[in-house]
Amino acid sequence: LQPLDGLIASLAVDIPDFPVPGVVFRDLTPVFADGPAFRRMVEGLAGPQTADPRAAAVAHTDEGGPRDPGFDVVVGVEARGFLLAAAVALHAGVGVVPVRKAGKLPRERVSADYALEYGTATVEMHTDSLWRGQRVLLVDDVLATGGTLGAAIALIEELGAVVTAVSVVIELAELGGRQQIAPHAVHALWTT
Ligand code: PRP
Ligand code: HPA
Repeated sequence: LQPLDGLIASLAVDIPDFPVPGVVFRDLTPVFADGPAFRRMVEGLAGPQTADPRAAAVAHTDEGGPRDPGFDVVVGVEARGFLLAAAVALHAGVGVVPVRKAGKLPRERVSADYALEYGTATVEMHTDSLWRGQRVLLVDDVLATGGTLGAAIALIEELGAVVTAVSVVIELAELGGRQQIAPHAVHALWTT
């Protein structure tokens, strides 16, 4: 079996000067489009406690006792993080909650502004989307500067929930995202 980081690296495509000059954009859409690679990414993001293929099935039955994946819910970041978070949640047998770009959520919400590698943005969550003490696995595709995940963590913690794990497909190490979201640890499937 090919190591997962090598598989992702072989399918991802580097695009120089996108979306602005000087940025080398790592396009993951070919990795998402490859069935075996997508499955292995989802399993890798969900973490070792969901490795049993029966985990999702027993998570909501009494057969053999429920298996705890180590988190109660998966939070995914719009837009590319949604593709992963829903699949990870299904795999682990838990629900999925969105962090959305500003202006999309209809009910009472909390907001956080952040700086992107290219531009600035605001993300939001519904105030009642997580409960106090709920254990969250936070998922996104790319950790670049860490601005996005930092803002998502701030929202999750404002709601009183607990970020127990952060998983990404790619960590762009030279941009310092890991330091930005410390002391939260990041599980990256490929660090480059
Ligand atoms: C990208 C990516 C991450 C974020 C990483 O999303 O999907 O969410 O940037 O960058 P950072 O670590 O510097 O914050 P983008 O905001 O481009 O939105 P999209 O998923 O809607 O394309
Ligand atoms: N590739 C893909 N997504 C990104 C990047 C990148 O280099 N930087 C921020 N989001």
